[in-house]
Amino acid sequence: METKIWHVTKENEIQTYLEVAKLLQAGETVAFPTETVYGIGADATNEQAVAKIYEAKGRPSDNPLIVHVADQSQIHEFVQKIPSNAKKLMKEFWPGPLTIILPLQPERLATNVTAGLDSVGVRIPEHPVALGLLAVAGIPVAAPSANRSGKPSPTSGEHVAEDLLGRISGIVFAGKTGVGLESTVIDCTLEPPAILRPGGISQEEIEAMIGPVISETKEMTKQEAPKAPGMKYTHYAPKAPIAIVKGDTTFFQKQIDLAEKRGEVVGVLVSDELEEHLRKSEYMVGLGSKAHPEEIAYRLYDRLRYFDRTPVTLIYTEPFEKVGIGEAVMNRLDKAAGGRYIKQSEES
Ligand code: TXA
Ligand code: MG
Repeated sequence: METKIWHVTKENEIQTYLEVAKLLQAGETVAFPTETVYGIGADATNEQAVAKIYEAKGRPSDNPLIVHVADQSQIHEFVQKIPSNAKKLMKEFWPGPLTIILPLQPERLATNVTAGLDSVGVRIPEHPVALGLLAVAGIPVAAPSANRSGKPSPTSGEHVAEDLLGRISGIVFAGKTGVGLESTVIDCTLEPPAILRPGGISQEEIEAMIGPVISETKEMTKQEAPKAPGMKYTHYAPKAPIAIVKGDTTFFQKQIDLAEKRGEVVGVLVSDELEEHLRKSEYMVGLGSKAHPEEIAYRLYDRLRYFDRTPVTLIYTEPFEKVGIGEAVMNRLDKAAGGRYIKQSEES
């Protein structure tokens, strides 16, 4: 399949939106930027169009997609009702990185969008290109992150091309995405609402608006199946295995040395603060300062993808504080690492 490429500029923006809208309306798949990560869009009312998304990503069919709209008025077409908590969240955080799960009105969307569930995740993204496209297309657009299933989500058009060139009808390039991690997913069909996936809007920000909510990822025991079907799969992972090293700087350095002695080529993914204390090595990349977790979020996927272009056989990273967007950073790192930790306390 030939993948058409657009680079959005002030001069061609309307023309681009018209062309992309036409493709989406015709049942094709087009990737575009949002403020969180790039998504692959398709007409959420068209079963065959949505099937192309699953096919292009290699995504399991039991993992539902988020529906994107330009305007709140479009939601009434396919949800049964909007609980008052959800209304407050929409008013405060939309457009923005918050996906709200609402009760689905049957037979309005393609059934594969929601993977047969009786609820649907919806959001209005806060990105001029996404909003422009959605407004011109005028249809609800199902859009998961535009990566091959299992890989880190794309934060640039180049990342999308890496994974999906030749697999989708088009890619709209418009620079890097701002947040760098996906939206927070909150289930407002439950009372109190439950955060199914931490993301761009923190639990603290949500609770300041609607009071206490449940955090599925914090409260879930290992045996339980996660409520957001997508959270049970391996995710965000580069090719080389990752382990999270929890200990002081000497301990961290020792783990690198031991691995190198075993013949591993070690990639190191750390904060500026830790980097300062480690011996320089070829595949060491910085995520930024711990004092700015939003910068760490912004860089994380790009740095994870970087390792796939190197010969590293193992990646060591460090844990970050689960405050604000740090919660989402650690959620993604935990998944990328498949829960592999090396802890100082257990060794000594
Ligand atoms: O920031 C984002 O949310 C990006 C951009 C493109 O908008 N999209 C994104 O989509 O991350 P995706 O498909 O990669 O992740 C959607 C998550 C999955 O974990 C899925 O299981 C969950 O949302 N989800 C979607 N609909 C759901 C529903 N009705 N009930 C429970 N979980 C749902
Ligand atoms: Mg995804």
